[in-house]
Amino acid sequence: MTYVVTENCIRCKYQDCVSVCPVDCFYEGETMLVIDPDQCIDCGVCEIECPAEAIIADTVPGAEKWIELNRNYARIWPNITQKGAVPADADDWLKTPNKYGAYFDKESNG
Ligand code: SF4
Ligand code: F3S
Repeated sequence: MTYVVTENCIRCKYQDCVSVCPVDCFYEGETMLVIDPDQCIDCGVCEIECPAEAIIADTVPGAEKWIELNRNYARIWPNITQKGAVPADADDWLKTPNKYGAYFDKESNG
């Protein structure tokens, strides 16, 4: 089992998850972070820290798509071990629907 980052993270990137992860298994793209499912030790700490409620367990219905996305981009994006600057407009994106379809830039790797 693992936890994965989902759509709510896109353009919010609060990074509170990074600060609490004991095994540094977050990876950073332009618009969101992902977890390496093979590194995650399933502690669950990050899930409750995320203000956007973007992190879910892989047992949640509908998680399959996100497990694959997290695994794929964790191989490409750089590891992030410390919280950096939060986007100035992060709060504006909290309630925006369908962010994956509209704002996740696949061409520039996130
Ligand atoms: Fe890190 Fe624990 Fe979150 Fe996995 S569940 S990403 S080990 S904080
Ligand atoms: Fe994203 Fe939440 Fe972490 S918004 S960067 S998963 S704290």
